[in-house]
Amino acid sequence: MTTARDPTPYWSDSAGLPRFSRLDADTEADAVVVGAGITGLTAAYELAAAKRSVVIIDRGRCASVDSGHTSAHLTMVTDTRLTDLVDQLGRAHAQAVWDAGLAAIARIDEVIRRHEIDCGFDWVEGYFHQRPGDAGWREAERLERDAELAAELGFDATCVRETPLTGTPGVRVDGQARVHPRRYLAGLAKAVVAAGGRIHEHTDAGEFSDQPLAVTANGHRIACRDIVIATHNPLVGIGGTAGATLFQTKLALYSSYVVAGRVAKGVVPDVLLWDTADPYRYFRVETYRDHDIVILGGEDHKTGQVADTAERCPRLERALEALAPGVELTHRWSGQVIEADLFDPSRKAIRHGLWDYLKENSSYPYYLIRDRFAGAEGRSLRAVRRGEGKVVERNGGKAAVYRDAAGAVTVRSATCTHMGCLVRWNPSEKTWDCPCHGSRFAPDGRVISGPAEAPLAEAG
Ligand SMILES: Cc1cc2nc3c(=O)[nH]c(=O)nc-3n(C[C@H](O)[C@H](O)[C@H](O)COP(=O)(O)OP(=O)(O)OC[C@H]3O[C@@H](n4cnc5c(N)ncnc54)[C@H](O)[C@@H]3O)c2cc1C
Ligand code: FES
Repeated sequence: MTTARDPTPYWSDSAGLPRFSRLDADTEADAVVVGAGITGLTAAYELAAAKRSVVIIDRGRCASVDSGHTSAHLTMVTDTRLTDLVDQLGRAHAQAVWDAGLAAIARIDEVIRRHEIDCGFDWVEGYFHQRPGDAGWREAERLERDAELAAELGFDATCVRETPLTGTPGVRVDGQARVHPRRYLAGLAKAVVAAGGRIHEHTDAGEFSDQPLAVTANGHRIACRDIVIATHNPLVGIGGTAGATLFQTKLALYSSYVVAGRVAKGVVPDVLLWDTADPYRYFRVETYRDHDIVILGGEDHKTGQVADTAERCPRLERALEALAPGVELTHRWSGQVIEADLFDPSRKAIRHGLWDYLKENSSYPYYLIRDRFAGAEGRSLRAVRRGEGKVVERNGGKAAVYRDAAGAVTVRSATCTHMGCLVRWNPSEKTWDCPCHGSRFAPDGRVISGPAEAPLAEAG
């Protein structure tokens, strides 16, 4: 028997995020922060704490896009393995990357204590480990090298023969943490307001001007001395269209899937896990007085580039059932993860940087040209069934056609408003996804996540 799963993130129904009004008049501030995910709210918090007047605007609701879809492992362990970091950046910079992660966790802990935010934060052990069923002594040897290197750089890391829950070789890293992300961000938003910050939701930054510096949102002008762009994907605005667009194309957007379920209290260890397979899976626990929630993520792929999106969560559910037998599966969701050169957008990582740029952007010319000449999936609106989307030939162009459960049809242009590739239907998320740089659009064409900034146009 298949039980219906909640298709929203586990966090969305239990956060108590306050609501904030739209911007409805011109105003001014020392700083405007555009985007109210973890990056924007943290920047606003630090600015307000430094006695700067700050306005934070978001085109939707706070903490609802990526920061509402995360699995919220708080860790210094990056997706790029420590041995690779040292190869690419050298020991000092690799150490700085891990140090920064550790410092960020400590800062979150400090903020939570100062404002007494009830968000399930706890320090736990983290393990990266061989995936059960993946044979190979080479991986075990590599894990040993990772552990030695981490210890040499001064981190509390130890090689273990058996990772908790999986029983496979791994590296234990002490001093990692977990948090309920939306409860934490609800507390952070309240702290920003208590320190004098102003938050406006449903307020879309539409225009930037730089002499004098200002952001126009909802048709109102916010004059300011500084602007923080915290939109996950950079906006094309100040700094020149060409520069920002080039940076957008340097980002690689991946879709990642997560499933969650309820288990009896204490039957799984309260640890963070990541395996070393590609794509990797990540696991954590959210604890309650009388039960625990187990969360497993993974199955990443470049956004818009696979057809089997609907099979990814069921695969994760089978893996979670193997890790936590008897789990009562409750939630499934997905979101986007960005991969980019570490930390600094302008860092000149000559050899690897250029290679990564070519590798991640090989999709753009391929899909742009292929999709121009490929046939559409149908020639008539009747080809689209209820609850389904299809790219359909229409008036000599290609239209993104969606028919909702009640039978109503929405027709938009299928051309991505970022750089002109054709979007495709994602049946798992019910979104239009662009295979070139990963923009996602709602069935009615609204932008869910960039780099595209404008909705899918009216179909011709
Ligand atoms: C499935 C999944 C699992 C993950 N797991 C982890 C993990 O375990 N640990 C970890 O550290 N990270 C994890 N991540 C990554 C992490 O969630 C993101 O890096 C982080 O949430 C990004 O936060 P952000 O504030 O930069 O972006 P977002 O949370 O996306 O916020 C950006 C905000 O900008 C707003 N915005 C965009 N354009 C405009 C505009 N023009 N005007 C106004 N507002 C605008 C958006 O509405 C949005 O609210 C995961 C991500 C996913 C999807
Ligand atoms: S063309 Fe770049 S995201 Fe669509």
